[in-house]
Amino acid sequence: MSEKKRAAALRAVEWVRSGMTLGLGTGSTAYYAIEAIGRLVREGYDLLGVPTSKSTEKLAEKFGVPLVSLDDVNVIDVTIDGADEVDPKLRLIKGMGGALLREKIVASMSKQEIIAVDDSKLVEILGTKSPLPVEVVPFGHRKTKESIERLGCVARLRGDSVPFITDGGNYVYDCRFARIETPEDLESRLNLIPGVVENGLFIGLATRAVIGTEEGVVVIERPQA
Ligand code: A5P
Repeated sequence: MSEKKRAAALRAVEWVRSGMTLGLGTGSTAYYAIEAIGRLVREGYDLLGVPTSKSTEKLAEKFGVPLVSLDDVNVIDVTIDGADEVDPKLRLIKGMGGALLREKIVASMSKQEIIAVDDSKLVEILGTKSPLPVEVVPFGHRKTKESIERLGCVARLRGDSVPFITDGGNYVYDCRFARIETPEDLESRLNLIPGVVENGLFIGLATRAVIGTEEGVVVIERPQA
């Protein structure tokens, strides 16, 4: 158990109000948030959750969080999710848990996207700690990989001999860039490659980061453009 992740997740849940529809993130930090949201439901909060993965759906059921399909809501009030890297402009790398596609769809529909992390996830330049996950369709995936690598990375199929399969039935390539200086540009170039379903760059989606540190929890609001 990571105390810093837990503290960050619990702080993020302080933005939850009764009557809200919530996006439920995926990963070990999101776990603590979903557990806490379950406690709020038991206290009488009227909440609905949209899960970002099959594993989160199971967790939400376990903790008693009522679920709703994304297609049945107009807007998501608050999403609480983790991240693999966070830069000073709150641009993110996500997807090491394999749920980047649903996470990005839910984030894009969220009025508030609150990212809960421990301080090991903070970077000055994206790509310096984590590979960038890129979800691709299985058909012709080695050719897709070659196109991705032409953008300046080394791409490794997650799972190698037994590929990891996402909730959408796709593969994931973990792409090592030395540093991602212009993430906006890379995000669009990746998504123009036929066979790429989505990539783990989350630009302009996070509204707030809640960071667990040794000294306590620090909150950073996204700078205004
Ligand atoms: C899931 O696909 C990811 O985007 C996670 O949000 C990310 O990997 C963070 O995971 P942890 O909270 O487990 O570090």
